[in-house]
Amino acid sequence: MTPDLARCVAEAYQVALPHRGQGRVADYIPALAKVDPNRFGFALALPDGTVHAAGDADIAFSIQSVSKVFTLALALRRVGSSLWDSVGREPSGSAFNSIVQLESEQGIPRNPLINAGAIATTDRLIDGRAGDAVIDEILDFIRARAGDDGVDIDRDVAASESETGARNRSLGYFMQAFDNLRHPVEAVTGVYFRQCAIAMSCRQLAKAGLFLAMEGRDPLTGEQLIDPHRARRINAIMMLCGHYDNSGEFAFRVGLPGKSGVGGGILCIAPGQGSIAVWSPGLNEAGTSLVGALALEHFAYAAGWSVF
Ligand code: DON
Repeated sequence: MTPDLARCVAEAYQVALPHRGQGRVADYIPALAKVDPNRFGFALALPDGTVHAAGDADIAFSIQSVSKVFTLALALRRVGSSLWDSVGREPSGSAFNSIVQLESEQGIPRNPLINAGAIATTDRLIDGRAGDAVIDEILDFIRARAGDDGVDIDRDVAASESETGARNRSLGYFMQAFDNLRHPVEAVTGVYFRQCAIAMSCRQLAKAGLFLAMEGRDPLTGEQLIDPHRARRINAIMMLCGHYDNSGEFAFRVGLPGKSGVGGGILCIAPGQGSIAVWSPGLNEAGTSLVGALALEHFAYAAGWSVF
């Protein structure tokens, strides 16, 4: 039986709503700490263009690490499989900003979704270009999918990231010491801080992620954006690494590939079905939205969607 998806969205929202405000809002990037912890949005984008939304689905938030999925897709498109010379594809079992494995693993980060791996991926995406051109490419890609030119960088958040970015710079310098960075650390982190500071709504994010559910094709424009096998592999990496040391728990509870961000957003992909974006700023220990994960768990169960 086909599930009533509008109902599943409404139910998931209602089930998670009483938990709003739980968890901890990220404050290690001061600009993120200003966000209202009671915000909660949910949007499901379907390949026919329908969006089912609930709550604060049209309020822009800082996508943070969710941006790593888009830069991974763009880097694979630009440099192909040679990306895997710079970054691995194994779960790390460590915190998102951990440096420990880099030392014993010759400066090759475990995967593209931890900070070190995302910095290495952005380094490859830059490919000799100016930072502004790379940011324009990322924004153009997202805006075209979201069908909305309003998606932009939150300059306050970007500045705050840079001011407090010693740890990310350290990851960059550490990789540089192992010859695993092709551009100066400041050039790479300059793009990385800005990609993390992209602000968009759940509705825009769900639409922007739809190509990953549709084998790399944007169902709304008909454009084949990345090879189908690459879209599948990005989903595999999201499933195994998308929530750092909480990835197993998320797979267990939700059963769909997802990527969290410390702004409280999660992008979740249901291959062949649709793309879901949730946002609520309170985080669990691993930096995944507590209410967002709860809503996704309920939605996936109600809709009967799982990759397993
Ligand atoms: O680099 C950082 O620490 C942040 N800009 C992004 C971290 C993040 O979103 C971790 N995810 N849950």
